[in-house]
Amino acid sequence: MRVYCAKDYYHASRMAANIISAQVIMKPDCVLGLATGSTPIGAYEQLVKWYEKGDLDFSKVTSINLDEYRGLPAENDQSYRYFMNTHLFDFINIDKKNTFVPDGMEPDAKKACKDYDGIIRSHGGIDLQILGLGHNGHIGFNEPAAAFAKGTQCVKLTESTITANARFFASMDDVPKEAYTMGIGSIMQAKKIMVIVSGEGKAEIVKRAFLGPITPEVPASVLQLHSDVILVGDEAALSEYNKSI
Ligand code: F6R
Repeated sequence: MRVYCAKDYYHASRMAANIISAQVIMKPDCVLGLATGSTPIGAYEQLVKWYEKGDLDFSKVTSINLDEYRGLPAENDQSYRYFMNTHLFDFINIDKKNTFVPDGMEPDAKKACKDYDGIIRSHGGIDLQILGLGHNGHIGFNEPAAAFAKGTQCVKLTESTITANARFFASMDDVPKEAYTMGIGSIMQAKKIMVIVSGEGKAEIVKRAFLGPITPEVPASVLQLHSDVILVGDEAALSEYNKSI
């Protein structure tokens, strides 16, 4: 694993954006696995700036997002489809037909998961997967569990995740309790994975995920088995990791 430590969130975001840009420049028709949450916002802002300068062309890029809340339509401003449109897709020349997010409105969970696995497969897998890291070690919405999930699954969100996400909703009760998420197996099949972490609040879980035992109780720990992982973070998020290596 390569670790890039930036002094703050702004610089970590620039580093992450540079890696995404390099991928798009090297392979204009690449498949990007994208994440939502607060961490990648800075990187997406940077990509938009470089696109506006004329440095980047997303016209042939396909994107496949990690997850979506079950029961939220695309127009809901808390849906991950809405997030992607308003933080990235609306400002670059990606063809929205080539942007995929699990269908939160598909009531048949089995179908939703099977369809999404089909989408990932039919695009030949993911070239560069972007990940954030949950405080409990989740990646996508793959929560701590007894086993690593292979394919797309419908999950019940844990109290810790519901509490962490409540900041985006009017009240705790409004936070959806279930989500569709790409499985750990699909994430691990990505050719390259970049995890972005920021802030002191992530310091402990970064250490556990990347230096602790590999266990489905800390889903991100499986990334230790991937041969091409880049961890990009600010000093605060990497502080415990850096102390322990
Ligand atoms: C988002 C996602 C989640 C987040 C994680 C960290 O698509 O899959 O796993 O990456 O919850 O969220 P932030 O970045 O808000 O700390």
